[in-house]
Amino acid sequence: NKVVLAYSGGLDTSVILKWLEETYGCEVVTFTADIGQGEEVEPARAKAQALGVKEIYIEDLREEFARDFVFPMFRANTVYEGEYLLGTSIARPLIAKRLVEIAHETGADAVSHGATGKGNDQVRFELGAYALKPGIRVIAPWREWDLNSREKLLAYAEKHGIPVEMKRGTRSPYSMDANLLHISYEGNQLEDPWFEAEEDMWRWTVSPEAAPDRPQYLEIRFENGDPVAIDDEPLSPASLLSRLNQVGGAHGIGRLDLVENRYVGMKSRGCYETPGGSILLRAHRAIESITLDREAAHLKDELMPRYASLIYNGYWWSPERRMLQALIDASQAHVNGVVRLKLYKGNVTVVGRKSEADTLFDAHIATFEDDAGAYDQKDAEGFIKLNALRLRIGARRGR
Ligand code: ARG
Ligand code: SIN
Repeated sequence: NKVVLAYSGGLDTSVILKWLEETYGCEVVTFTADIGQGEEVEPARAKAQALGVKEIYIEDLREEFARDFVFPMFRANTVYEGEYLLGTSIARPLIAKRLVEIAHETGADAVSHGATGKGNDQVRFELGAYALKPGIRVIAPWREWDLNSREKLLAYAEKHGIPVEMKRGTRSPYSMDANLLHISYEGNQLEDPWFEAEEDMWRWTVSPEAAPDRPQYLEIRFENGDPVAIDDEPLSPASLLSRLNQVGGAHGIGRLDLVENRYVGMKSRGCYETPGGSILLRAHRAIESITLDREAAHLKDELMPRYASLIYNGYWWSPERRMLQALIDASQAHVNGVVRLKLYKGNVTVVGRKSEADTLFDAHIATFEDDAGAYDQKDAEGFIKLNALRLRIGARRGR
């Protein structure tokens, strides 16, 4: 039997690799993806080889991640519990998909991951895997083994000849997860929700205080609700997002510190940096503000929290998420145009928006000046009277 392991090349997943071989007597296939975490993935090949792995998958999934996961999610202006931009949540369905595809290709009957039994990630990986390959077996070592401390993990690594360089080095004290959309920090001192994160925890953004004293202007062009160019330069989904991360990071944009409700029932404190995503969210809303019908926009807004929870809770591959996606995608047919933004010390301000063919903004109708008969103010009287009718009837009752 064979297991496909989501392998980062770090200590934890290297221990999992050995543990799977030892506990299940199975062959392990490793899968390592570049989804924009900002770390080289090739070293994972050498590490897997050193650990005796024969089938090693290393893939660059950055474009697929941005195009088929991040952008569709941003079409809905998605945020979980009013703040979280779902950076980790949206990457898991893609990893789940590749895990089962590789299981199929290599004839493996199981997949495995390094998520703990306390978190959301296990749910996301596994709901995804079952939805895409119902007969798949999932092995979650963190839920099975007794290596529940750093020391035990290190001792196990020592005993099984896992190379020393994986053990020490630039290990951060936080549980981190990074991809093209965000970097997250949990655990350690953050477990006290009153404790303010130290400045040197943040890796992608400068502090707003240290950001440049001069604002930077930026124009983003949208086509069918997706960003396609920055300052008139057409960019692929992944390069566009990574460009926004650089620019946003330099201006201290996109830091978050929050307590969220995990699907498994506990509250968890997390810090996040989502520079590009924070810019994109504002820009997308701005282009929708002139191109979307009012009721279409409001309906999307009502459905958004539901859609966000589906993604947070791991239901990307569910029928209800796909149904909502079809609705969201259909709403974007006219979401075309350009948004002008000003970045300054942690703030993203929309300063302009335009759409040649698709704007619903009619200056002739909206003007405070003479509208030359475009709008008859007398119509408003009957409109208000009929809408007031039930209020007046209600107010008379019991008088
Ligand atoms: N709390 C966030 C979420 O559930 C981030 C999880 C980070 N995952 C990690 N393995 N460090 O989406
Ligand atoms: C983990 O528990 O593996 C990370 C945190 C989470 O999944 O929510």
